Amino acid sequence: MSEQLTGNSGKSSGTSTAQPCVIVIFGATGDLTARKLLPAIYNLSRENLLSKSTVVVGFARRPKTDEQFRQEMHDAVNQFSRCKPADETVWNDLAGRIYYHQSPFENADGYRSLARRLEQIDQKHGTQGRRLYYLSTSPAEFGVIIDHLGDAGLGNIDPFNARAWRRVIVEKPFGSNLDTARQLNNRINRTFDESQVFRIDHYLGKQTVQNLLVLRFANGIFEPIWNRRYVDHVQITVGETLGVEGRGGYFETAGTLRDMVQNHLMQLLTLIAMEPPVALDGDAIRDEKVRVLKSIPSYSTQQAAQWTVRGQYSQGENKGMPVKAYRDEERVSPQSTTETYAAVKLYINNWRWQGVPFYLRSGKQMKLQGSEVSIHFNSAPGVLFNTPGSGLARNVLTVRVQPNEGISLLMNAKRPGTVTQIVRAAMDFEYHEAFGSYSPEAYERLLLDAIIGDSTLFIRRDEVEGSWAIIDAIEEAWAANAVELAPYAPGSWGPPQADELLAHDGRAWDPLGGRL
Ligand SMILES: NC(=O)c1ccc[n+]([C@@H]2O[C@H](COP(=O)([O-])OP(=O)(O)OC[C@H]3O[C@@H](n4cnc5c(N)ncnc54)[C@H](OP(=O)(O)O)[C@@H]3O)[C@@H](O)[C@H]2O)c1
Repeated sequence: MSEQLTGNSGKSSGTSTAQPCVIVIFGATGDLTARKLLPAIYNLSRENLLSKSTVVVGFARRPKTDEQFRQEMHDAVNQFSRCKPADETVWNDLAGRIYYHQSPFENADGYRSLARRLEQIDQKHGTQGRRLYYLSTSPAEFGVIIDHLGDAGLGNIDPFNARAWRRVIVEKPFGSNLDTARQLNNRINRTFDESQVFRIDHYLGKQTVQNLLVLRFANGIFEPIWNRRYVDHVQITVGETLGVEGRGGYFETAGTLRDMVQNHLMQLLTLIAMEPPVALDGDAIRDEKVRVLKSIPSYSTQQAAQWTVRGQYSQGENKGMPVKAYRDEERVSPQSTTETYAAVKLYINNWRWQGVPFYLRSGKQMKLQGSEVSIHFNSAPGVLFNTPGSGLARNVLTVRVQPNEGISLLMNAKRPGTVTQIVRAAMDFEYHEAFGSYSPEAYERLLLDAIIGDSTLFIRRDEVEGSWAIIDAIEEAWAANAVELAPYAPGSWGPPQADELLAHDGRAWDPLGGRL
């Protein structure tokens, strides 16, 4: 990782430097490049975290000159960068190292001419054959680009030049089920060795997600109680207040289970549940995450029926704004059965977690926007305090991934007064209060790690496939209509069936925010 990490770390990129390289962005005229990638490269340059010889080559279909592309990227930085407007001195220095290469992805000549151009760039900027390819395109294009890179000799590590590393960043989704993920991985691995492949889930670039490891393994008080003896259950929520926002065509082929649960929520789950790794390096951490996935048994149809909820938002309003039903969204079938909400209960069958339910939920058009993880500890014995009702409330440790990044611990406390009245109180830690508002964007961290060659925050092939194996079993049960598609009102927390899922176990979902 690119922070100063000490300890049993195979590599500490706090001491690694970003070598000069060429970042080739496939899909450079697209939305992600303008919103995230160029602003990230600009901010890394501004903070002197990249070599002054880092070069960017945009690759896309539309004809454009280098100068036009630079101007568009300048506008993008001014619009989307976390630090704006652009510092003109930093920008001008970077802009002289930005180029545009026009070609359809399907055209082999385009890659041969790219190879020649990259050699010229190596001569001019001293990038020494180092390439970071960023596939910022629709997943349908991944295979064709990878194949052409291989055919043009752009994928191999140059055997005569050990410094000339080649890496590829692949955007999600990585397949749409286990079969397609395997096919894509096989295709990628024909050109790139797994050590060259960096699958991105931008959630892992978020500071709070990285802090999960620090919280767990740099503090002595949590690890002894982080197991089935002390934990009652765990909840993971990722809520979005928006709907599909013009992405109905894509969403129809995905749904919330594939679009959110398979990647973001499963990543949070593995970080919460994994064993301490033997070192803080990519393989050691990912080995432990994979072990978690392997310990989650596949659902039978009956378990899927009992333990999962699928919902779809209907017409209504959210935050005072009218909301059309999902089925009335653009490029969505009026009979669509795609879920915009999913809730799942699962068990991790290992020594640490056996019998502890993990409840995951994610949805669109939710009441609040935010992601958080909460660990609900067993309650204290109720023998001393006369607590009417359900007894003493549980202690809950909540990690807010976003917004208001921070950690809170809910406790029972005595309300001041002449009688003993026990109430909930929160100990709260907010990142911005403790450390100020500096928070690099996830893409900054991830791009820098890929350039440095640290794969810790990227998803390995067996992680992707392990996660799909779990999701596929649920999808199969849903396809067989074992679980009804439940409508829910925009601005709610999903269908009532999701509340019943927990109520059945004598539990309830947390309100987002982790505080009182
Ligand atoms: N947008 C986001 O904020 C975001 C966030 C997370 C993940 N992602 C993922 O990032 C990827 C890219 O998303 P995006 O929103 O940037 O997509 P986009 O706006 O649709 O851009 C697609 C890009 O691909 C190029 N392209 C498409 N077909 C081509 C072809 N046959 N030959 C050459 N170029 C071609 C387009 O070039 P022309 O326009 O020149 O044809 C354009 O540059 C997707 O996998 C998406 O799921 C996006």
